[in-house]
Amino acid sequence: MTRRAAITGFPVAHSRSPLVHGHWLAEHGIDGSYEKVAVSPDAAAAFYRDFRESGLVGCNVTVPNKEAAAAACDELDEAARAMGAANTLWLDDTGRLIGANTDGSGFLGNLDQSLPGWDDGLSHAVVLGAGGAARAVIWALLSRGVKTVAIVNRTYQKAADLKARFGPDSIACHWEDLDDLMGTTGLLVNTTSLGMSGQPPLEIDLRNLSESAIVADLVYVPLETPLLARARARGNPAVDGLGMLLHQAVPGFERWFGVRPRVTDELRALVLADLGSQA
Ligand code: ATR
Repeated sequence: MTRRAAITGFPVAHSRSPLVHGHWLAEHGIDGSYEKVAVSPDAAAAFYRDFRESGLVGCNVTVPNKEAAAAACDELDEAARAMGAANTLWLDDTGRLIGANTDGSGFLGNLDQSLPGWDDGLSHAVVLGAGGAARAVIWALLSRGVKTVAIVNRTYQKAADLKARFGPDSIACHWEDLDDLMGTTGLLVNTTSLGMSGQPPLEIDLRNLSESAIVADLVYVPLETPLLARARARGNPAVDGLGMLLHQAVPGFERWFGVRPRVTDELRALVLADLGSQA
């Protein structure tokens, strides 16, 4: 029988996940499907609670349902527990709903593939933003052994809330602290929507940033954000946001369809072409 998985969330119309999973299904000749299922916030609690009735073997979860999905699961992996949010669900052999969060491991997988050894001796990191994406990146960096993660956000209280979640190795900071943090950080990650096409630019001063510091942007439209272009121009290693999107999809596909897929240049090109056609 065809194994069916899906992206669930609201909205899902513009999700690239069907393209990614569709590519892997074809590559491996698997009798499976990956669909788009719109699940409005009002319907989310019931949908995930009654997941067995959907006919799906598992699903991805996107905004705004990641917290509701986590709450409905019978069991969560360590990352989903730490973040209070799940983005990858599957039914186990006994019909229990298991939830994982692969956003953080996707962030790490992308860095591991694009800049091998990136975390050697990395002690301090700065994360711009304090939303859902920041939560995943902070968890990922701390789980990799980074000593301190400074969370810099326009709304300080949200940074403080994340600090409370992640404990003493994270620090809540004001936007004005950024200049001082630049000199000591080995990694700067933008998780805000600033710099995305249609959004305001990310205006930060890179003058104090060490030339060896890595700059990563989670924004992938445009792929080369002004932040990444400025970082590259001054010699900093720079990593774009598309890889995280592709790498976070790997564990779900493996669970649902039994093959661990690879993130290749061909897949990147496919998604980039699709982004270009809709930009
Ligand atoms: P995501 O799930 O992608 O992380 P989010 O939860 O909506 O999205 O978070 C968006 C992040 O971008 C937040 O950190 C937000 O800052 P606030 O907490 O102050 O809202 C940040 N952000 C969005 N627009 C911004 C702007 N114009 N200036 C500064 N930060 C901005």
